[in-house]
Amino acid sequence: MTGPLDVARIREDFPILTTPFKGKRLVYLDSAVSGQMPRPVVERMGRYAQLEHTNVHRGVSTLSQEATDRFEEAREKVRRLVNAPSARQIVWTRGTTEALNLVAQSFGRPRVHAGDEILLSAMEHHANIVPWQLLAQERGARIRVIPMDDDGELILDAIPGLITDRTRILGLTHVSNALGTVNPVKEITALAHARGVPVVVDGAQAVPHLKVDLQDLDCDFYAFSGHKMSGPTGIGALFGKAEHLEAMPPWQGGGNMILSVTWEKTTYMPFPGKFEAGTPAIAATIGLGASVDYLEGIGFDRIAAHEHGLLVYATEALEAIPGLRILGKAREKAAVISFVMEGIHPHDIGSILDHEGIVVRAGHHCAQPVMERFGVPATTRASLAYFNTEEDVDALVAAVLKVKEIFG
Ligand code: ALA
Repeated sequence: MTGPLDVARIREDFPILTTPFKGKRLVYLDSAVSGQMPRPVVERMGRYAQLEHTNVHRGVSTLSQEATDRFEEAREKVRRLVNAPSARQIVWTRGTTEALNLVAQSFGRPRVHAGDEILLSAMEHHANIVPWQLLAQERGARIRVIPMDDDGELILDAIPGLITDRTRILGLTHVSNALGTVNPVKEITALAHARGVPVVVDGAQAVPHLKVDLQDLDCDFYAFSGHKMSGPTGIGALFGKAEHLEAMPPWQGGGNMILSVTWEKTTYMPFPGKFEAGTPAIAATIGLGASVDYLEGIGFDRIAAHEHGLLVYATEALEAIPGLRILGKAREKAAVISFVMEGIHPHDIGSILDHEGIVVRAGHHCAQPVMERFGVPATTRASLAYFNTEEDVDALVAAVLKVKEIFG
């Protein structure tokens, strides 16, 4: 598809957007916390649940074989979406958090030892901090941090000096959930690889908004979640380079991930099977495949252009409000606007906006070190998606002006 988005048409696919909320038009500006699911995704999951359901990778029944085919087709769709070399390199997980824990436990644990270092960016979300802290505590390793500047851009010049002979892994978010910064993953990966350091990327906020090409980025691991990309909760994916997935031990044991089990010895499936113990989230996986179809049907160039237009429009309008300060002014920025208002707590802003039918997130956005870096306890965050409109932004601005009026 080419040309601008037909947003009015797209919005018809989202009953939540066209159903009054507290007697008002719902303005959903919280896609970074969780995206909304369009009707084709919900219907695809419903069809599976009502007419196609059984377990996958088990049995010779036609129903089971067909469910397995649909389940594996979703893996191929996700592979295509992120341009991974092979569908086998897509491991299903519950989401980004589980994917990053898998990397920390299965890839990190054997290679991180006492005195080693794990290098993370200053704008990581807790899901790409805490799994590494747990590992560092267990192994006696230490976390080092790539700093960022006041605009919310990583200080790339600091990276070579932070990579030492003890650096075992570099962890980086592709797009900051709290600031919107789009990080130069390809450049940072090249810097790390030049020193033999593998790179794990949190792509949760990138995949819904940008065309991600993993063969171009060349990172070692890339994690993302279904529910941020117009799909359901409970499903996500981890991409890994084949040589790593081959060498990594399983991290959870159970059915489905084995080739044979005796009391003496168990052998495992080749990847991705060895990382997928137990019955998976089948309906959610097939739903995620449908969300890939939906997003590709709209087209990432058009999604990115539309969201960028809204970002510029909203930034100009909000910045014109005296006492309002936007955190995160990176040159490359996704449509996430975090702001603070002089003398007004973000929770109060969030509550008043909620009363107006405007959904934003107020808090630390599971990125407390980012809040600390900017010296604030919390922000109010509006995060935009392809179904948002200038009317949504106007409603936000009007409500923020009302907040200002109330708090004088
Ligand atoms: N990562 C989610 C957010 O940014 C939880 O709100």
